[in-house]
Amino acid sequence: MELNKYSRTITQDETQPASQAMLYALGLTEEDLKKAQVGIVSMGYDGNPCNMHLNDLAQDIKTGVWKEDLVGLIFNTIGVSDGISNGNDGMRFSLVSRDVIADSIETVMGAQWYDGMIAVPGCDKNMPGALMAMGRVNRPSIMVYGGSIHPGKWKGEDLNIVSAFEALGKKIKNTITPEDFKGVIQNACPGAGACGGMYTANTMSSAIEALGMSLPYSSSNPALSPEKKQECIDAGKAIRILLEKDIKPRDIMTRKAFENAITMVAVLGGSTNAVMHLIAMAHSVGIELTLKDFQDISDKTPLLADLKPSGKYLMEDLHNVGGVPAVMKYLLKEGFLHGDCLTVTGKTIAENLASVPDLNDGQEVIFEIHKALKPTGNIQILYGNIASEGCVAKISGKEGEFFEGTAVVFEGEKEVIRGIQAGEVKPGNVVIIRYCGPKGGPGMSEMLKPTSAIMGAGLGSTVALITDGRFSGGSHGFVVGHVTPEAYEGGGIALIENGDVITIDAVKNTINMQISDEELAKRKANWKQPESPIKQGVLLKYMRSVSSASEGCVTDKY
Ligand code: FES
Repeated sequence: MELNKYSRTITQDETQPASQAMLYALGLTEEDLKKAQVGIVSMGYDGNPCNMHLNDLAQDIKTGVWKEDLVGLIFNTIGVSDGISNGNDGMRFSLVSRDVIADSIETVMGAQWYDGMIAVPGCDKNMPGALMAMGRVNRPSIMVYGGSIHPGKWKGEDLNIVSAFEALGKKIKNTITPEDFKGVIQNACPGAGACGGMYTANTMSSAIEALGMSLPYSSSNPALSPEKKQECIDAGKAIRILLEKDIKPRDIMTRKAFENAITMVAVLGGSTNAVMHLIAMAHSVGIELTLKDFQDISDKTPLLADLKPSGKYLMEDLHNVGGVPAVMKYLLKEGFLHGDCLTVTGKTIAENLASVPDLNDGQEVIFEIHKALKPTGNIQILYGNIASEGCVAKISGKEGEFFEGTAVVFEGEKEVIRGIQAGEVKPGNVVIIRYCGPKGGPGMSEMLKPTSAIMGAGLGSTVALITDGRFSGGSHGFVVGHVTPEAYEGGGIALIENGDVITIDAVKNTINMQISDEELAKRKANWKQPESPIKQGVLLKYMRSVSSASEGCVTDKY
């Protein structure tokens, strides 16, 4: 079949002289104009370790694409670093960036007639953004993950980005010297690559590899490694196969493939953000994934990975003991994955894994099923008068599965930090952080700074946290987020008052404030939606279009 199905519209039609003149301006020849065109989209930019090397990787991908007698043309999208935006109003833009990325890729792919796409994202929102665009555009596509950062070091101890956040809590508690505080911050991130634990970026890269949309080992090949460079070159070969076989994202991103992705998140103890991102990615290909799908898979999938934030190891350690394909091979053998799902190699998962080595003997990163860290996954969906349409808890098991305490309520993230510093948060409290949802934030900020400050202040195992915002994949402790309906829409979380008794039961999957229905109705009747300070720009557009967290915070709900 013709590989230039889309680009021929402009390259082979004599009524398109302007398009062709512009392509000749790039240095393309008449022969080149007959070839299929691959848009190579990089989220590269200088200001963030997760993204700083992506433009270099895009060049390697371009080399691989041209080697396959295809035309590779690089374009860029924006990117936002959650690490940098965290803890202030900048965070409002993080989740927004996911949809801006999806929209901008869709726009370029639609306008420029590329036949296929290879995306090279690095940070949390880059990946679901790229995948949402692939789903919408539905032309042969591959994701090449930018890869993880190497661990940092200070005084012989391994560091990662969460070490920097937790240093703040230690500073508040006066348990770190000024020299060590500075030393941790200056050495936590030793160069290019995404945050190294099983935080959101690595959760999404692993889920997307299990989904079949990246090449084997993409999620665990470190950012600065010969393997990552080789993967970029190999992506050229793979996109040629996809073009020849006309395998499109909707052939790969099936319901069964999403089940594989959710299983991978559960096994690895991944970030709660995976819930909304996978729902949004499924939406892009017309599949309705719900919170119930996550609960059902979590219920039957053991937590096997001893990875940070709640465990010991980093993604690079997983890579060194066999990588994500070795985990998938083990899961396939044990009946946890659908092996017949198609992938971007043009083969099925089972075919890809046939030649993959097993996990190393004696490795300690992935537990065997009979020694699972927890018999079920760490993501639990809870319902109750605080979250009538659901919320997402991350329960690794270490923090217990039941919490009852008194509410201490904060309107927004900055208030909590002030409250912790002022000693307003005490053992036995349930910390409520509200008006941080997709509309109310707007932008549904992550609460990494509060959770890290709580941990660092030594309150970690003694308090729980509930928010209509999100959690970073780096957050741990007894945390419940994505509360729906959000406070700004008058959800139950808006009605909690200081001192209310809050009960979170992750076994019965309930979350309630212990007040009567009459009292709840009275508070509801007195509630007024606060006026939003947002009057223009991207945040206003976002507020108007975003769906609830339970629906993936998509901005194109029909
Ligand atoms: Fe980019 Fe962590 S902030 S991966």
